[in-house]
Amino acid sequence: VDNTTQGIYQLYTAAQRLYQHILLNTTSGEQALSYLHDTRQLDDEIIKKFGIGFVPEDNALLGYAKDQNLAHELMHASELFITNDQGEMRDRFAGRIVWPIKSDRGQVVGFSGRALDNNNKIKYMNSPESPFFTKSKLLYNFDLAKNVIRQTNTVMIFEGFMDVISASMAAEDNAVATMGTALTNEHVQHLVRIANRVLLVYDGDEAGQRAAQRSITLIQENTKDIEIGVVHLPDKLDPDEVRLQQGLSTLKQALHQNIQTPVEFLISVSRVGKNLSNQAQYLAFLQEVMQLLKQATPVEQDIQLTRIANEFGTAKSALQAQLEQTNKS
Ligand code: GTP
Ligand code: MN
Ligand code: MN
Ligand code: MN
Ligand code: MN
Repeated sequence: VDNTTQGIYQLYTAAQRLYQHILLNTTSGEQALSYLHDTRQLDDEIIKKFGIGFVPEDNALLGYAKDQNLAHELMHASELFITNDQGEMRDRFAGRIVWPIKSDRGQVVGFSGRALDNNNKIKYMNSPESPFFTKSKLLYNFDLAKNVIRQTNTVMIFEGFMDVISASMAAEDNAVATMGTALTNEHVQHLVRIANRVLLVYDGDEAGQRAAQRSITLIQENTKDIEIGVVHLPDKLDPDEVRLQQGLSTLKQALHQNIQTPVEFLISVSRVGKNLSNQAQYLAFLQEVMQLLKQATPVEQDIQLTRIANEFGTAKSALQAQLEQTNKS
C-alpha cells in the first residue's frame, strides 16, 4: 500500500469519525439525529455500531483536510469532495446522513448518503466507483457479518443497508446488502467460500421480486454449491418497514419462517398479473409452471402439482402428464 492509498484510508476513517461526532454531539446534527431516532427508530447504540454520521452544509471535512494540509490530489482521489463550476471544493455528501461502507477487513472505503427529506434531492447517493469503492465487489456489512455467516453457514442478502441494520436489531447478524446494484458473480463467488446457504430477503414490492428473480438466475448459473431460499415479506414491505410497522419480532419470524424454495417463489411470481379463472391465462400459467418444474426434484414436482390440483380442481394425473410432455419437448 503506497503513501497516497494509506493517506486516503486515513481520511476515510477520519471522515467517518467526524461525521459521527457531528451527528451525535453537535447542533448541526440535531435534525438528522431526530430523524434517525424518531422516524427510523434507531438508538445511539445501533448508530454507533454501524458508524452512521451526518454531513453538515458547512464543509466540515474540507476544513479538516485543510487543517491537515492534505494534498489536493489525495483529496480529489478520495472522492469525498466535489468541485463546483467556480473551481471550489465542497463536501460531496453535504446535507446527508451517511453510512460508512467498509471493506471485508473493516476499513472504511466510501459512504452512502441519504437525503433527510424525500423531496428535492435524489434519495440515496453513493461514493462514485473508484479503485477504493467497487460496487460489484462490495457487500455492505460483510466485515461484521462474516464470522456469523461461517457459523450459521447461511448468508442473508438484502437490498438496502437499513434492511441489514434492521436484521441486526433482530439479532440476525449474518446479513449483507449489495450497494444499490444487482448481485454479481463476484459477490456470489465471495460468499460461496464461507457459506452454502443463501437467503434472499428482497423488498416485497415488484422491483424487489424482479431483483430476487435475477439473483436466483445469477446464483444458479454460477454455482451448484449454494442452496437458495427466498424470504417472503408481508404487504409489499421491505424488511426495515416490517420492523417499523409490524415490529422486530414479526421481522425475525419472517426471516426464519416465510422461506420459499426458488421454484415455489418463481411459481408465485408467475401468477402475478394473471387472472387464473380465465382458461387461456390459466393454461399460460401452467406452461410456465411446467418449465420451472423441469429442473425440480421429483418431490418438489409432486408438492407443487398437488397444490395446483387442489387449488384449481385440475386432475393431478393431467398435470403430471403435461409435465412429462414438457420434459420431452
Ligand atoms: P429508505 O427510504 O431509506 O428505507 O430507502 P428504501 O428502502 O426506499 O430504498 P430502496 O428500497 O429504494 O433501495 C434499496 C437500496 O438501494 C438502498 O439502500 C440504496 O443502497 C440503494 N438505492 C436506492 N435508491 C438509490 C439511488 O437513487 N441511487 C443509488 N446509488 N442507490 C440507491
Ligand atoms: Mn430523539
Ligand atoms: Mn425498493
Ligand atoms: Mn427498500
Ligand atoms: Mn426502506
